[in-house]
Amino acid sequence: MSQWIEIAHFSALPDGAYERFAFDDVDVLVFREGDHLYAIEDLCTHDGAELCGGLYLNGEIECPRHGARFCVKTGKALSAPAYGAVATFPIRITDDGVVELALTD
Ligand code: FES
Repeated sequence: MSQWIEIAHFSALPDGAYERFAFDDVDVLVFREGDHLYAIEDLCTHDGAELCGGLYLNGEIECPRHGARFCVKTGKALSAPAYGAVATFPIRITDDGVVELALTD
């Protein structure tokens, strides 16, 4: 069972960009596009590189190591050399503008 974790205030997240949040067992990238947020694991499915630092454009992040691209909405791999999807996490904004993330088991 997952639990919602407060990570930031929505206004603190830059539009059209992403930020990295580190937890005990997982690192997560949170992307903001206008009023929408997406969260994926910071772990490339090709060879385990961090995706953080990769180019983020048009809803896709490019792995800085070998250039695989992933959809930040679905986690789906969009180009070789990665074929498996990265993990995604539920994310929401409360009425008070607090961003909460659920780390699933
Ligand atoms: S480790 Fe990401 S594309 Fe190779």
